[in-house]
Amino acid sequence: MNRIALPKLTGRHKELLILIKDSGFRLALAIICSAVVAAMTAASAYLVKPAVEKIFEQKDTQMLMLIPLLVVVVFLTKGIAAYGSSYLLNHIGQTVIMRLRNRLYDHIQDLPMAFFQREKTGDLMSRITNDVAVISSMFTSAITGSIRDFFTIIGLLSVTLYLIPKLAIYAFVVLPLAAFPIFHFGRKIRRVRLGAQESLADMSAFLHETLLGTKIVKAFGMEDHEKKRFAGKSRTIFRFEMKEARVRAMSSPIMELLGGVGIAFIIWYGGKDVIAGTYSFGTFMSFLTAVGFLYQPLKKLSKLNNAVQRGLAATDRIFDILERKSDIIEAPSPVQIVPGPHYIVFDKVSFKYDTTMVLQDINLTVKSGEIVALVGMSGGGKTSLVNLIPRFYDVTEGAVLIDDVDIRNVSIAALRRQVAVVTQEPILFNDSVHNNIVYGCQDASEKQIIQAAKDAYAYDFITSFPDGFNTSIGELGGRLSGGQKQRICIARALLKNAPILILDEATSSLDSESETLVQKALGNLMQGRTTFIIAHRLSTIGYAHRILVIADGRIVEKGVHEQLLDRRGEYYKLYRMQFADNHLMDSQPDADSLGRL
Ligand SMILES: Nc1ncnc2c1ncn2[C@@H]1O[C@H](COP(=O)(O)OP(=O)(O)OP(=O)(O)O)[C@@H](O)[C@H]1O
Ligand SMILES: [Mg+2]
Repeated sequence: MNRIALPKLTGRHKELLILIKDSGFRLALAIICSAVVAAMTAASAYLVKPAVEKIFEQKDTQMLMLIPLLVVVVFLTKGIAAYGSSYLLNHIGQTVIMRLRNRLYDHIQDLPMAFFQREKTGDLMSRITNDVAVISSMFTSAITGSIRDFFTIIGLLSVTLYLIPKLAIYAFVVLPLAAFPIFHFGRKIRRVRLGAQESLADMSAFLHETLLGTKIVKAFGMEDHEKKRFAGKSRTIFRFEMKEARVRAMSSPIMELLGGVGIAFIIWYGGKDVIAGTYSFGTFMSFLTAVGFLYQPLKKLSKLNNAVQRGLAATDRIFDILERKSDIIEAPSPVQIVPGPHYIVFDKVSFKYDTTMVLQDINLTVKSGEIVALVGMSGGGKTSLVNLIPRFYDVTEGAVLIDDVDIRNVSIAALRRQVAVVTQEPILFNDSVHNNIVYGCQDASEKQIIQAAKDAYAYDFITSFPDGFNTSIGELGGRLSGGQKQRICIARALLKNAPILILDEATSSLDSESETLVQKALGNLMQGRTTFIIAHRLSTIGYAHRILVIADGRIVEKGVHEQLLDRRGEYYKLYRMQFADNHLMDSQPDADSLGRL
């Protein structure tokens, strides 16, 4: 029996059904409508009997008026009920889909940074769009339609049972045999569908990557290479779709053949009885009509299995994400930290992303209001270190403390409210410049927004856009320069006005002149705030109270500029290299060139 097993229902599928729960009233109404449709279909099959007997055999003229009228009434009622059930069932189905889609997005939003580094954006997009769409078609057309088909089959079988019981019982026995190919094909489809959905996701990820990286594709002359890779992926999808189409195309003729054999049997068996006079011709015709009407819902029911299998495959892909747990967890009774100056302690912190240690044995106390500069070679671990403060990642060993409280015990939302970040990559959303700046500070006044833009030296170029602050970033497309993007990001961080500031190469894309200006603004802002400033250019850390040199995941040197120079170590090397680059070795590289270092 196992070979024709029904699709296994797991907790995941039950959870899908739970999404229906408050559509109870609509569902009940839809079931009533479906029952009416079924009853009317059965009635229309049954009407053949009086039509044949009373009109064609007995030539009853009164019935000649009555029966056609009845036929119209039956079909009218059926039409109205069919509309009702379709509408209601679609409403239920679409509600489930909407909830599932929202739940998926909400869940993804709450997953930690590490998840996004592992998953491809395009693949996630595909799950929210393609996979949800497949489930949607399972719900709206298949499951919902099948409620009606199920009732109709019951109704028609009752008519046949009433008309010629013995023949109908044969049908009951033979019918389940038809289930065998249905389930066989269904299982095949589910397997193929999973592959198809995966390759769709793969293509989506590929598109996302290559379209985002068009510039590099063109610059390296790789258009043909990418075209070939795309064609390969396209071909894989084609193969999966054709495999599925083959199975589906086969299931329909097989059902039809079974139907044909059934009809042949009825004509042979029923015909025998009509000739022998056991049943009237009208009864036989009515029976045959009912069996004929059975064909449609049965066929649809066989398609239902296919659609359900497709849907279940997609469900699995969605629940794979929904069941992913965040490892950045809110403490059971989190400490609410209040806005104000904070001090941060790194206590024997080690950290790794996957396997290799990126930070080791970091011990550091940053007093409230202290400005700490992190310098060092690329890949040393500067970004990784500051990523620990807003809990983008959790430490592997040791602890990060804010005001002596382990940040893992602090409310995540409260913690992140204390931190304003300017990331190494400027990230802006497809929205107006205004909305990008107020991101996270929706209640800022117009005056504050303008002030933030001015402090970030973004005001002048923003107002030069045709729509000023209302210009959409998307419309500007690639027209914002790297430095302009950075300045909008800085304005956004300035507006947040948080007591802890993290500036990761915040001014690296600016020319020296704007950099000096923005640095001044940042310098004002840093006063009184606990600040972590990462910079490659040593000339930009003039405001720092203390400098940390990070190399290979360790703090190798710390101190003020002069001390570090005197040590003739890493810092001295960095310093010499930069000033050699700038041909400043000869000039006196102290007070003037280094600001307040
Ligand atoms: N998401 C990640 N997964 C795995 N390894 C990572 C990840 N991000 C960074 N690393 C690794 O961690 C190390 C430190 O990287 P990090 O970005 O902290 O360096 P950095 O000092 O900020 O460098 P840069 O000055 O170039 O920005 C590098 O070896 C890098 O390859
Ligand atoms: Mg970095």
